[in-house]
Amino acid sequence: MARKYDCYLFDFDGTVADTGEGIRRSVAYSLEKLGCAALPDQALSRFIGPPLHDSYVEYCGMTDEQAEAAVAAYRERYVEIGLYESRLYPGMAALLRALHRSGAWVAIASAKPTFMLERLAERFGIAGYLNAISGTGLDRHSADKRDLILAALPEGADLSRAAMVGDRRFDIEAARALGMAAVGADYGYSVPGELRQAGANAVFDGVEEMSEWLLGEKPRGLFISLEGSDGCGKSTQIALLKEYLEKRGFEAVLTREPGGCPISERIREVILSLDSKGMSAECEALLYAASRIEHVREVIEPALNCGKIVICDRFLDSSIAYQAYGRELGEDFIRQINAPTIRRVLPDRTLLLTVDRSESRRRMAEGRAPLDRLELEKEDFFARVAAGYDRLARAEGDRVTVIDASRTIGEVFEDVKAAIAELL
Ligand code: TYD
Repeated sequence: MARKYDCYLFDFDGTVADTGEGIRRSVAYSLEKLGCAALPDQALSRFIGPPLHDSYVEYCGMTDEQAEAAVAAYRERYVEIGLYESRLYPGMAALLRALHRSGAWVAIASAKPTFMLERLAERFGIAGYLNAISGTGLDRHSADKRDLILAALPEGADLSRAAMVGDRRFDIEAARALGMAAVGADYGYSVPGELRQAGANAVFDGVEEMSEWLLGEKPRGLFISLEGSDGCGKSTQIALLKEYLEKRGFEAVLTREPGGCPISERIREVILSLDSKGMSAECEALLYAASRIEHVREVIEPALNCGKIVICDRFLDSSIAYQAYGRELGEDFIRQINAPTIRRVLPDRTLLLTVDRSESRRRMAEGRAPLDRLELEKEDFFARVAAGYDRLARAEGDRVTVIDASRTIGEVFEDVKAAIAELL
């Protein structure tokens, strides 16, 4: 990937994460504890970003001593509760991942205490993307942003090849003073015009546009497909995976084949309906291929192009297992009719959930849904499908991870997470 800069530094509050709620509530708590007049929400928001001590002095007219007591009261609540009243901005995890993967130096430079930044980075699952976390010690009243930035950079860094991203004028001014590119995150806690006035080289309303500018291209998302015989528990694992990725700050799009968009869902009805009994194997394979290319163009590619993670319930490998092997049409024919898809996109990782046929039948019988046309096939068909999946897993071991799905939901999910960990 082309890289615009060698080092990318990020402020934390209001830039990487929306931490406002926890901060506002904790400032309000400290003022109440000290018997000071309460502040409206807007005034509380001004505490987000700059060193706390300075804000108590500036916005509440406190003496140094009073401000110290206020910071102590604030921390009482913040460390236990407020820290966790926060979330990553959508798209931020994908941006940090892309920067890290490009080989750039990625770091946090924030006036927040370092141990809190470390805790939050772990909690949000972004610690692995960061080369350094530069915050303050607990005893420091205030810190010059320039010092925080310098501490976040590798030794001998070329400042003209470094960018600082922040949502307050302090971030922008410090970056400019050091000769770095200064990038304004206007989605954070700045007041209108603040970042441009401070001299930001570029200002963005959202992480998506900012990512494109920082990377020099759109961050590409991640394409994960799940495969397996009917009744292997894919749907349960897919739902868990989506929840897990979203907790880690990724935007996950869940979709399925055949289907996933209006035209392909209509094709799905034709393929799976019992009214289609007697459909030729070739027609079936072509319909799957037709629904797939539409789905790729309408849903999968657009999501990947804006850095989202696509989790797809079945993809091309199903056609290999079911049509090439189950229907005995051969791999060449299936790859040929799926060429329009193959030319555009293939999964980065495929999780193949396996259960033996008796377990899969038991699970399907337990399910309340009536069986569709494919599920009513004979046993030798499913044996060929299983053999097809087997071959695929052996031929494409780098992409396809086989997971024994006959265990408990929790055990299987541990393996699902492990299989995608390296990609994240
Ligand atoms: P679905 O109800 O989605 O099955 P499951 O819950 O097991 O995923 O139905 C999809 C059926 O279509 C399933 O039996 C597998 C089959 N199929 C193919 O034969 N070829 C394909 O390319 C795809 C995507 C699915």
